[in-house]
Amino acid sequence: MKPEFQWANAELSARYNVTPLTPAFRVDPQFEADVLEGLDDDQKHIPSIWLYDRRGSELFEEITEVAEYYPTRTETRLLAGLAPELESEIGGVHSLVEIGSGSSRKTRLLLAALGSLGRYVPVDISSDFLRAAAAGLARDFPSLSVQPVVADFTQPFALPSAGRDAVDSAGNLGFFPGSTIGNFTPDAAVALMAQLGRTLGPRSRLLIGVDTTQDPALLIPAYDDAAGVTAEFNLNLLDRINRELEGAFDRRDFRHLARHDPHQGRIEMHLVSRRAHEVRVRGRTFAFAEGETIHTENCYKYSPGQFLRMAHAAQWRCERSWQDGGRTGFTVYLLRREA
Ligand SMILES: C[S@@+](CC[C@H](N)C(=O)[O-])C[C@H]1O[C@@H](n2cnc3c(N)ncnc32)[C@H](O)[C@@H]1O
Repeated sequence: MKPEFQWANAELSARYNVTPLTPAFRVDPQFEADVLEGLDDDQKHIPSIWLYDRRGSELFEEITEVAEYYPTRTETRLLAGLAPELESEIGGVHSLVEIGSGSSRKTRLLLAALGSLGRYVPVDISSDFLRAAAAGLARDFPSLSVQPVVADFTQPFALPSAGRDAVDSAGNLGFFPGSTIGNFTPDAAVALMAQLGRTLGPRSRLLIGVDTTQDPALLIPAYDDAAGVTAEFNLNLLDRINRELEGAFDRRDFRHLARHDPHQGRIEMHLVSRRAHEVRVRGRTFAFAEGETIHTENCYKYSPGQFLRMAHAAQWRCERSWQDGGRTGFTVYLLRREA
């Protein structure tokens, strides 16, 4: 652990009811391995997890504010409507565990509505951003114990101990908003939901937001906004590689592309090379043809039928759902662990 990281943790813990970040994951070796391996493939690709360094998380927050990006607005509206009903629906939950928590902005709706909550465990890979979000929540909800965990949630990770006072007979409540599940192929999404079930434990529930939109007229602008914020989010990956992996990308040689694949039911994000050229990263050379792309993100839009089949395969059953009545069909599901 770097000294400044320890210092920031100590200061945070002293000032707020926040435990030090639990570093369950070492970023650098995995980032390097994924980038070098992905750039070597026939279809170049880099997993979307690496879009989220501190700058990437800030840019994602900006995306949620652009007019074209409907998912955040739609899901927030659904959560505001369902939050008052949630307490009677699940009752007595002590721990809220958020998967890919980002700014934790939507979480505030749940924290305000669920009187029984004693602790909040936000889990995210973007450690600086997670630390700042956790401090803000601890300040605004002083009776809550906030226990941030830095982890790759696709890998098994342990929840911090809830302590002796925790009343956990109702199980943990997982919260997985933002349609982040759509970043995973169907098989990977089933594996992830099964793994989350094991992490959350017996009697747990999962409140999960899933986008179902298939209308390209909504989708393309949402992932390629006029102000260029999503383009900047995508191109920031090249800056990150330059900064952290001795990369020599010139971002002017690439442009952002959002592409709808109706057969797979997904939006893809790519970085398109504007010309034939070579780039060095960590001492290795990668050749790009003109028009060749690096595939950087998938956003699957799972229909309710498709999603519920996947949830069932991962041992979750649906207790309730709330669907947007407008053009998006965005749905929030309350799932209960079967085993
Ligand atoms: C689409 S954003 C959603 C943010 C927020 N939950 C929301 O609804 O606005 C995805 C979040 O998950 C985090 N993330 C993505 N992949 C991750 C992974 N494999 N492990 C941990 N965090 C991840 C990102 O850092 C980011 O904060």
